[in-house]
Amino acid sequence: MTKKLVTSALPYVNGLPHLGHMVGCLLPADIYARYLRMKGEDVLFICGTDEHGTPAEVGALKEKMDVAAYCKKYHDIHARLYADFGISLDYCGRTSSDANKEIVYRIFRALDANGFIEERTTKQVYSPDDGRYLPDSYVIGTCPHCGYEKAKGDQCENCTKVLDPADLIGPRSAISGSANIEIRDTKHLFISLQKMEKELDTWIETKRGVWPDIVYTTAKKWLKEGLQARGITRDLKWGFPVPKPGYEDKVFYVWFDAPIGYIGITKQWADERPDTRKWEDWWLNPQQVVHTEFMAKDNIPYHTITFPATLRGTREGWTEVGFLKGMNYLNFAGGKFSKSAQRGVFCDDAIAEFPVDYWRYWLIANAPESNDTDFTFEQFAGQVNKDLNDVLGNFVNRVLKMTQGNFGDAVPEAGALTDDEKTLHRTLDALRADYDKYWAGLELRKMMAAMRELWAAGNAYIAKTEPWKAVKTDKARAGTILNTALNLVNLHAVLAAPIMPETARKMRAIFGLPAPAAFIDGPAEKALALIAAGTPIAPCEPLFQKIPDERVAELNIKYKAG
Ligand code: MF3
Ligand code: ZN
Repeated sequence: MTKKLVTSALPYVNGLPHLGHMVGCLLPADIYARYLRMKGEDVLFICGTDEHGTPAEVGALKEKMDVAAYCKKYHDIHARLYADFGISLDYCGRTSSDANKEIVYRIFRALDANGFIEERTTKQVYSPDDGRYLPDSYVIGTCPHCGYEKAKGDQCENCTKVLDPADLIGPRSAISGSANIEIRDTKHLFISLQKMEKELDTWIETKRGVWPDIVYTTAKKWLKEGLQARGITRDLKWGFPVPKPGYEDKVFYVWFDAPIGYIGITKQWADERPDTRKWEDWWLNPQQVVHTEFMAKDNIPYHTITFPATLRGTREGWTEVGFLKGMNYLNFAGGKFSKSAQRGVFCDDAIAEFPVDYWRYWLIANAPESNDTDFTFEQFAGQVNKDLNDVLGNFVNRVLKMTQGNFGDAVPEAGALTDDEKTLHRTLDALRADYDKYWAGLELRKMMAAMRELWAAGNAYIAKTEPWKAVKTDKARAGTILNTALNLVNLHAVLAAPIMPETARKMRAIFGLPAPAAFIDGPAEKALALIAAGTPIAPCEPLFQKIPDERVAELNIKYKAG
C-alpha cells in the first residue's frame, strides 16, 4: 500500500487567515487527510507558514519587531487558528526553520552541480534612505498609462498594465516614502527552466484529463509561452543566505524556498522522533508515496512548473506531485477580504461566531471548484438552516425523541425488514457509490451533494413509514423503523466525519461510541445492522441552531457585507 502525503499550500505568515485561505487549501486538504485516515491509509498531512520575503520584513517593521520574532508570533497565531478550525495537521511547520535551510542548500547545490543554475546581472532599485534594495512592488509612483498615483513598480492596480519600476513617474519607496532612489546593477542566480521545458511538457501531458482542467491548462499556458530562466535570489536581509561565493549578501527568493518547505516541514516533523520517522520515506520515495497538493489557482504555476523543475533538476529522484487540486477564489460579498478595511470573515471571527462545523460544511458544499464563488451571510444562513438544521439535525432529533418517548433509553429491537427498508438500502447503496466516487476524484461539491441526498433519504424513509403512527397500531414495526433510523444516524455520523468531525462525534456519543475512526464498508443492509438492539441511548442536544434573519442583518453590518 502506498503512503499518502497530503499538503496544503503554505499561507504567508504576515497575513491572517480568512475563509478564502480555508477553502482554497487548508480545509479541502484536511477533509481529504481525514478521509484517507478513515480508510486506513498511512497518511502524513502537513502545512505551515511561508515566512520569507519582503511582506514579512515590512510587517515586522510596522510592528517594530525583529523579523524572526515577528514570524514566530504570527506562526503561532496561524497554528492555533488552524487547530481551532479542526485542521488535523500532523505538523504545522515553518519555511524559515533550520530543517528547511538544510534541504534548500542540498537542492540548490545539486541544481548547481547539474548545470541548472546560471548567473545574470539585473537592474534593481536601490533606496539609500532605506539602506536596501527595493523589490519592484515596493517602488510606487504615477502610472505612465493611466495617471494613477499609487501604481506599483510591477503592475498598475488601476489599469492592470504590467510595469517596470523605471516606467513610473516620480518613483518613491513604499517603505519610507523617500524619492531618493537609484537603479543599480546587481548579480543574481537563476534556475534554467528552459533546459527542462521538454521533460516538463511530457510530464504535464500525462495529466491531461486527470488533473482538474484549471491546473492542466494553467501549466500548459506557461509551457506554450516558453519557459524562461527565473531568479531564485534577492537583495534582502531576511531569508536563507545564498551559499555561493560572491552571493554572501543575498538570500534565496521566497518562492524558491517556500515549496521546498513541504520537505523542510516533513523534516521538522521527523526530527522530533528520529527513531520512528524519516523524512526520506516521504520525499525520496517516489514509488511508494502518492503526494496530493491543495492550493488556490494563483499557486498553480509554481507547483506545476517551478517546484517540479527544482526537484527534477537535482536528478535525485524526489517524490513528485501525484494529484494537484487547484481551487478558484472565494470572494466576500462581491469583493475582497481585507483585514485593514475590516471586511470579510477571518478565521478568528468565524470561530467566534458559529461552531466550526457550520463553516466547514458551507465551505465544502460551495467550494470554488469550477468558478470563483461569493460568500454571503444570506446564503450561509440559508444553507445552515436548511441542510444542517431541517434535514440532518431534524432527522436525528425526531428519531431520538420518538425512540425515547416510546421505547425508553435504548435502541429498540428490529423485526423482519419490509420493502420500505429494502428500498432504503438500495437508495443508500447507490448514493454511497457516488460518495466514494466523488471522493476518489476529489469532486468536493458533488461529494457533499451525495451526502445531502443520503440525509434526505433518511427523512424520506421516516415520512414513508410514519413510525409515529406505527407505535399506536404495531409497536414492533415502529421498533424496526426506529432501529433502522438510529443505525442510519450512525452511518450519517461516519460519512460526515471528514467534513464535520465535531458533529460526527456528538452523533456517535448518542450510542456511547467514540468519534468515527474508520469507514463502514459493505452494503447498507450490513451498515444498518451495526448498532445492536438494547444499546443505551444518551440524550443529545439539537445538533444545530437556526440562524435567524436578524442575526444575518447584524452580521452584514459587522463584517461590511451589505
Ligand atoms: N505563501 C504562498 C501564498 O499564500 C503559498 C506558498 S505555497 C508553497 O500564495 F508551497 F510554496 F509554500
Ligand atoms: Zn495604470
